[in-house]
Amino acid sequence: MEAATGKAQERLEAELGELLERESFEPPEDFVAAALVGDQSLHEEAARDPSAWWAKLASELDWFSEPTEVLDDSNPPFFKWFADGTLNASVNCLDRHIAAGNGDRVAFHWHGEEGEEREITYADLFRDTQRLANVLKERGVGAGDVVGIYLPMIPEVAVAMLACARIGAPHNVVFGGFSPEAVKDRMEFSEAKALITTDEARRKGKTAQIKPAVDDFLGEVPSIETVIVVRNTGAEVPMTDGRDLFYDLAIEAAEAECEPAELEAEHPLYILYTSGSTAKPKGILHTTGGYLTGVAWTTRLVFDLKPDSDVFWCSADVGWVTGHSYIVYGPLMNGVTSVMYEGAPDYPDKDVWWELCERYGVTVFYTAPTAIRACMKWGAEYPARHDLSALRLLGTVGEPINPKAWLWYWKVIGRERCPIVDTWWQTETGHIMITTLPGAQATKPGSAGTPLPGIDAAVLDQHGNEVEGGQGLLALRKPWPGMLRTLYKEDDRYVETYFKKFGPGTYFVGDAARRDSDRYFWIIGRVDDVINVSGHRLSTAEVESAIVSHAKVAESAVIGQADEDTGQSICAFVTLEGDLEGTDELVAEIRERVALRIGKLARPKRVVWADDLPKTRSGKIMRRLLRDIAEGRELGDVTTLRDPQVVEELDEVVKRRASEGEEE
Ligand code: WT7
Repeated sequence: MEAATGKAQERLEAELGELLERESFEPPEDFVAAALVGDQSLHEEAARDPSAWWAKLASELDWFSEPTEVLDDSNPPFFKWFADGTLNASVNCLDRHIAAGNGDRVAFHWHGEEGEEREITYADLFRDTQRLANVLKERGVGAGDVVGIYLPMIPEVAVAMLACARIGAPHNVVFGGFSPEAVKDRMEFSEAKALITTDEARRKGKTAQIKPAVDDFLGEVPSIETVIVVRNTGAEVPMTDGRDLFYDLAIEAAEAECEPAELEAEHPLYILYTSGSTAKPKGILHTTGGYLTGVAWTTRLVFDLKPDSDVFWCSADVGWVTGHSYIVYGPLMNGVTSVMYEGAPDYPDKDVWWELCERYGVTVFYTAPTAIRACMKWGAEYPARHDLSALRLLGTVGEPINPKAWLWYWKVIGRERCPIVDTWWQTETGHIMITTLPGAQATKPGSAGTPLPGIDAAVLDQHGNEVEGGQGLLALRKPWPGMLRTLYKEDDRYVETYFKKFGPGTYFVGDAARRDSDRYFWIIGRVDDVINVSGHRLSTAEVESAIVSHAKVAESAVIGQADEDTGQSICAFVTLEGDLEGTDELVAEIRERVALRIGKLARPKRVVWADDLPKTRSGKIMRRLLRDIAEGRELGDVTTLRDPQVVEELDEVVKRRASEGEEE
């Protein structure tokens, strides 16, 4: 048996090796024939008249009052879209499907970690959304009040978001993998008035206490007047009288109907905190009309979704923007049936994703390169256990995909039948920006493709001139409806971060990229101090600030180091106080500090003790040199250093440890 697997593995390796030669992959003919878009006509239409293009897409939403304006660019970079229209996001996700007689359609096939199943129909969502909206209202939450959401991957998370949208209360979802302390920060920054959370969360057969841990910090966030607790495991948790409610009891008691608030297109829909280049996360603010316009059509056309026959699965967590746009708003606006899975891809076993694809007949599957690399490592025998014949389209997002992982995905999961869309976008852009339309364009493993219709992406040099052929800075030269509107309560930082480099009309992305002779974009990676670990965005400054909060640490510099599995991993250079010696115990304590301050996902994989850190004469840490050291490269230019000796010593220490076989 093992020998057979070994042989199969060898054969696969050889086939993948041959495929590496192939530069581009045309979509199969039958895919093209059935595709919603089979040619370049939309790209052409949008190029001819961008304003008419966006207006047409916006008109596909349900408005209380249709907009007559498209873009208001009178005060760049504070753009407004469809400003005189009014609408409600929950109406676009729910009411319109109920009205069309589709209430019985399944919105989510929810699958729990222990194999539990729940079918949540559009009518179920509609009922609970209204009831929860009424609960929030009774607690004095109204339009403009921020509501925090800190929940695992359970259907209630979608209800919570939609209930907020129904009354115009911007939600602020915090990824369940962030620590309660990180939740506190995000609630404080956004002055949240209520928090929707849970008793406990499950992860790989274990449970983690959530409510008691959150309680430890809530006293420090005076703005929070209400805490709604979803009973997930049913564990007993402390409840504070007058402040805390159980979700199930509250919605049972609530009025059944809740009129949707009629909101202006520019009314805030949500805030989502993401890492920037300082320790304080950025509150990306998305508004209603433009965001929904961008999300609705990209969901439909990039994933070629036909609501009557497709089952869509975006395996992201709802706590990231991918989940906001492609688990909740995009699929629901389109009336699509999706899969929502509570657990990890390797629990209860490494074939659980493929088991669920088979069970629910998933037709379109969207995941991250890091997950594909993990599956590749586990072996093709896991997907081979399952019938994946319903799959017809695959997608990736979050980081550049290496061609080998792309080919494995295409061959082993897609069984050579499914086109792959590599979708480039960001929390800030709201929705997919660069990719191929799967029935209309060939794909090249490793390239995201071309800007979507209406999107003007370019590769620029430091001065804003276009770079032909070579590498440069990715920029977006025209505003688009789904773009962030500002950083919550930090307008100056918004301008500074995105529009200082190239001026108020051109959005600075923060990625390096190149464009080939077919005008396909190849994303290279971040150019700022943002680290991308498994498609999760973390900032060096945020991790450093967590590390130096340890009493024995004097200083720290954190870098992202290339990593075979996670794309990048975190390497922390740490200088201890006084004459303290670095020990394994201290490494564990530092990792624990980071887990508490931010979350386990931000724990450094590697800690390097440094007597001193390489700094410029003005005291700025030279991260570039630290990256050279960590990745074992020749050191770059050291002439601008205050003390070149520091970096040479550090380099030697790391090299010596590497030759001794340093272990994590
Ligand atoms: C950064 C944005 C958008 C949801 C997931 C991450 C990188 C994203 C790709 C891709 C190469 C990609 C970029 C970008 N990125 N998609 N298809 N190819 N790189 O959202 O946390 O806001 O991170 O992820 O570096 O700037 P995010």
